[in-house]
Parts: sequence; C-alpha cells; structure tokens
Amino acid sequence: MHSHGQGSPGNLLGLGSYAPAKVLTNQDFEKFIDTTDEWITTRTGVKRRHVSADNESTSDLALNAARAALRDAKMDPQDIDVVLVATFSPDYITPATACAVQEKLGLGPHSVPAFDINAACSGFIYGLATAKAYIESGMADTVLLVGAEAISRFTDYQDRTTCILFGDAAGSVVVGLKEGAKGHAVKQVRLWADGRGKELIVTPAGGAVRPGSHATIDERLHCIRMKGREVFKFAVSQFVDMLREIMEKYRLKGEDIGAIVPHQANIRIIDAAAERLGLARDLFLTNLEEYGNTSSASIPLMLDEAYRAGRLKPGKPVLLAAFGGGLTWGWALVEW
Ligand SMILES: CC(C)(COP(=O)(O)OP(=O)(O)OC[C@H]1O[C@@H](n2cnc3c(N)ncnc32)[C@H](O)[C@@H]1OP(=O)(O)O)[C@@H](O)C(=O)NCCC(=O)NCCS
Repeated sequence: MHSHGQGSPGNLLGLGSYAPAKVLTNQDFEKFIDTTDEWITTRTGVKRRHVSADNESTSDLALNAARAALRDAKMDPQDIDVVLVATFSPDYITPATACAVQEKLGLGPHSVPAFDINAACSGFIYGLATAKAYIESGMADTVLLVGAEAISRFTDYQDRTTCILFGDAAGSVVVGLKEGAKGHAVKQVRLWADGRGKELIVTPAGGAVRPGSHATIDERLHCIRMKGREVFKFAVSQFVDMLREIMEKYRLKGEDIGAIVPHQANIRIIDAAAERLGLARDLFLTNLEEYGNTSSASIPLMLDEAYRAGRLKPGKPVLLAAFGGGLTWGWALVEW
C-alpha cells in the first residue's frame, strides 16, 4: 500500500460475480408449499433462484466472485489492502466472513484488515461507501468488496411468504485508485438507516435477544422473517425518493442516465418506481427473474452482468440504489 489516495476518488477497477449451480424453480415450490408459479411470477417477478451446495458456504460464494473481480482488474490478491464482505447470511455470527475470504485468497500472511458489514439488502452500498472512504482518506489504495449471501441457509422453506423470494449469490468489485485507462469513479454514496423498523426483516433467534434453543429451532426462528407488505411500502417510497434526490442533485433527466441498477427485491417495486418517476422502464436493469432477491449480492451481480453484456456505456452515469433490513437504504452514483 502506498497511501497516496488522499483526495483521489475511489474507482471501480474490476467486477465479478458468482451464482451456485443448483436452481430452485417456482414449479419446485409447488411440490412442497401451497403456492403456484402464477402467484410467484405475478407478485414478485421471480421464476428461478440459485441455491448453494451443501459444501458451499457464504465465504465460498464470496471467494468465487472476488477471484473474478480480481481477474477483471488484472490484480493479484496481494494487491488488496482491505477485505470487506457485506452479508446478512454469514458463515458464522463470529468470526467475520471477510476473515475466511482473506484466508481463502491466501492473504493471511499479509495480515490486511478484513471485516463484515451487515446492512442487509443495502449491504453493497454500505460497503461501497466504506471502500470509498478508505481510499479517499488515504488509508488504503485498493479495497476488495464482496456482497455475498447464502440466504438458503437461513430460509424457512415452510414459510411461503419468504422462501420463494430469496436466492444465493455473490458479487464483487475492486475499488481503488485509477491507474491508466481503467476505472469508473464512485462519485458519491449516501446512506440512511431507521432502526424503528428493525423488526420488519429479522432473524429472530440465535442472537443475544433470543439465544438459540430447542424451542427456537422447533419454531424455525433462526430463519429470516419478514413483514412483506410493510417492507414493500417502505421500499417503493425510499427507492423513489432516492432516485428523485440523485436526479435533482445532478440535474439528470431520463435520457442522461446510462442505467439504474436497483436492488432486486421484487419486480413490482421497480415497476412502481419507474411509473412514479415517469422514467423509461428499460433504464432499470433487472435479473431477479433468474436469481430472486440475493440481498447484498444483488447490485454487484446485476452490475457485472450488465457490464459483461456491454450494457453500460461510457460517459453516462450509472445509478445504484438499495433498501433493506435495518431498516437501511442508500444510493451511489458511478461515472461509467
Ligand atoms: C412478500 C410479497 C411478495 C407479498 O406480496 P403481497 O402482494 O404483499 O401479498 P400479501 O403479503 O399481502 O399476501 C397476499 C396473500 O397471498 C398469500 N401468499 C403469500 N405468499 C404466497 C405464496 N408464496 N403463494 C401463494 N400465496 C401467498 C398471503 O398468505 C396472503 O393471503 P391472505 O390474503 O389469505 O392472507 C411482497 O409483500 C413483497 O415483495 N414485499 C417486499 C419484500 C421485499 O422486497 N423484501 C426485501 C426488501 S430488501
């Protein structure tokens, strides 16, 4: 690390993503819960979601995405100064999943800091703010950020209101100082939280409020619970407000925006926002039909897919916006 970053903006230098091979389709759910492909498709937009293999934990998903991002950045793990993992489905409550990723990358002997960020579905944006702050303060030149989730490990497959929504995946970016031609400046990131909504999306047991016990296991309280309708209303209103704020602040009209990469929670949230803002629906990139809601992985996974497909055109800003448990929300503007 050279610590000459002071004042230079954090740049995206490489992107990568990974989704496990196993897939659960809507038809698969019809076999074990009271639901239909038609209900799931019309209420959520999700058709399929990927699920980790038994021997594949959150840090394994993260490792695959991280390696892809490093390859894209043409960097070695040894170039990394900080390892950040955004997740709400970690390998363990402690230690941090980021420590496992650091070890699996062979970075142990380099002893660079590694820690997790838990901002649920806003985790990637929170991580991006942290990476940007590290770089712009001169504390690091290069940060590896991964959003990684093995949500299937915390899913109650008897709860039809949640189990159909989520999927497993990981997405990663290398954030660092721009050298040469490559780099997309992370121009600004803004974050918010409102803990009054902390029980709207919650893993009720296994923490200090309600330690794990036979009873909590029997009631499957170590799995994610969600008040879907309340979360839906919160998500639409914050998503619309965030996009409105970016567009006003940067004086952007629809035609000035390269793409909007929203957190992939529910197609109806995205459709509603497009309609309320009067923006063309095809500005909003979506892949939740294939992956479901992959929480902190969803934005980097979509961004990587769009980048590889040549969908992100130089010269136009890319807007990232997320909302999720906490409650938390935040946006980022990236110059492409
Ligand atoms: C979860 C969600 C899809 C439910 O859709 P909804 O239109 O709000 O549906 P409701 O919760 O009002 O439920 C309507 C009915 O469908 C039923 N239902 C719920 N899940 C179902 C399923 N998988 N299959 C069939 N019926 C289902 C409910 O039991 C309810 O039945 P009732 O009217 O007899 O009580 C929706 O609320 C949602 O997407 N919320 C936001 C989730 C989210 O984005 N979370 C992450 C944020 S980061």
